Amino acid sequence: MSPHPPSLLLTLRVNGLDVEVAAPPHYSLLEVLRYKLHLTGSKQGCDKGDCGACTVQLDGQPVLSCITLAAQAQGREVLTVEGLAGREAHPLQDAMDRFDAAQCGFCTPGILMSAEHLLRTAGREVTHAEAAHAIAGNLCRCTGYTKILDAIVDASTKTGGGR
Ligand code: FES
Ligand code: FES
Repeated sequence: MSPHPPSLLLTLRVNGLDVEVAAPPHYSLLEVLRYKLHLTGSKQGCDKGDCGACTVQLDGQPVLSCITLAAQAQGREVLTVEGLAGREAHPLQDAMDRFDAAQCGFCTPGILMSAEHLLRTAGREVTHAEAAHAIAGNLCRCTGYTKILDAIVDASTKTGGGR
C-alpha cells in the first residue's frame, strides 16, 4: 500500500477565479492557499484556531482557514486579503493606513477579512463595540487595538458599511 493517500482534486472559486488544485486530503484551506496557490497574504500564526491571522471568507463568512479542511471549500467561494481590493485599496485598507493601525502587520490580513464582513453585513456606520466584537478572534500583539478599531469605524463612515 502507498504510504501517501492520493491527493484530492479540488475545484474552488478563489478571489473571483475558478481554480483546480490537487492537495493531500489532510491539507487545511490555509495550506492550499499558501502552499498550492501561493496566496501568502493569509498568515500561518498559531495554526490551531487561536489567533485569527489565517482568517479568510468562505461564501462570505469569516472562517479560520487553519482549522478548515480544504475539502470543506470544495465548490465554494473563497475570498482572501489578496481579493479584497479592486482597482483601488478597499476603504478598510485605506483607513488602516491613515490611522497607522498596522505595526508588524502580521494580524492585518485576518483583521481586514473579519472587519469587511462586519461592514458589508451592517451596511451602515458601526460602533467601536461592534468593531471590537467583529475582531474579537483576531489577536494583535503590537497595537493595543485602539487604532484598528478607529480605522474600522472610520471605514464604515466612508462606505456606509459596504464596498
Ligand atoms: S493561524 Fe489560524 S487561528 Fe492562528
Ligand atoms: S500589527 Fe503586529 S500583530 Fe498586529
